[in-house]
Amino acid sequence: MQIAVTGANSSVGKVLLRHVAGQNDFLARAGVRTSEAVATLPRFATITPRVIRYDDRDSLTALLTGVRCLVHLAGILIETKHSNYQTANVDATRAVVDVCRDANVEHIVFISVLGADSHSGNRYYRSKGVAEQIVTQSGISATIIRTPILLGPGTAGARALVSMASRPTVKVLGGGRHALRPLDVDDLSDAILYSCRARADGVAVHELVGPEPTTHRDLITTTGRLMGHTVSVAAIPVWTAKLGSTLAGWTRRGGMTPTVIDVITANEVVRTNADADLGVSLTPLLVTLTKLLPEKTATSD
Ligand SMILES: NC(=O)c1ccc[n+]([C@@H]2O[C@H](COP(=O)([O-])OP(=O)(O)OC[C@H]3O[C@@H](n4cnc5c(N)ncnc54)[C@H](OP(=O)(O)O)[C@@H]3O)[C@@H](O)[C@H]2O)c1
Repeated sequence: MQIAVTGANSSVGKVLLRHVAGQNDFLARAGVRTSEAVATLPRFATITPRVIRYDDRDSLTALLTGVRCLVHLAGILIETKHSNYQTANVDATRAVVDVCRDANVEHIVFISVLGADSHSGNRYYRSKGVAEQIVTQSGISATIIRTPILLGPGTAGARALVSMASRPTVKVLGGGRHALRPLDVDDLSDAILYSCRARADGVAVHELVGPEPTTHRDLITTTGRLMGHTVSVAAIPVWTAKLGSTLAGWTRRGGMTPTVIDVITANEVVRTNADADLGVSLTPLLVTLTKLLPEKTATSD
């Protein structure tokens, strides 16, 4: 089956492409925005890189013509000078969905976030909620997968976790007492490929989280223990961090804003985990954390 992946150079995209390469019934077109990004993609005979622009319909048509399933991964949590929630999360989604319709793409898999809501007071959750609406109202069948913090090679969450767990003492927002349900990117990749194969009718919204509830604090101390040392976790009050980021926002755009702080300190809670519905056998958290240790990531590159 021919699929296309947008945001293929994202941390999720690179892992997903390795999973695609391990199947004998998948071919993938990997859509990225620059030739520099092409150079970062894993190289396999079944993966064809394509440079696309979300404001260039022809490039999206070339990506999507003949494709049965689109996996839309492009999206951001941290805004920059060059990318914001409107362009990355909303406009890019609208652009690919429009072209999917004309290209007769049969199914869309969209990676969203727990808490996505088009009416949210939080700009990030709102942008992901609006993107979900665009997918839902496209007239194309779709699987929307809302995810928690993702752990895998190169994910922002994993990089921050390993960096914090490498130190004897760290200060984290609110003492890291918020609840997390970290999901292994290998498991998310399995869910995505399952959804492409199933191409279920209609639109389904799933919440897929890891197998074990934990806290940010416990994640750091457990990862530290796996590295062979003890980490002491102290607290940065959330209000202080928000005040600091508000003041910093007067001179720079994006980065750590109060919006981002609210997202990364939110409790990740789900009513029903979609692992069974999405054909996923969840990786135990300790196994996921072990895969992130520096000696493991060095050998997997
Ligand atoms: N990581 C997590 O913990 C997490 C949690 C929940 C949901 N998600 C969602 O999962 C997806 C993949 O996440 P990730 O962490 O793997 O992403 P990532 O590594 O941060 O990569 C972001 C991707 O978005 C693209 N992008 C940035 N600005 C863009 C714009 N204005 N227009 C179009 N594309 C743009 C980037 O392309 P360039 O390299 O060209 O900038 C890159 O391909 C995202 O939709 C994200 O919201 C992630």
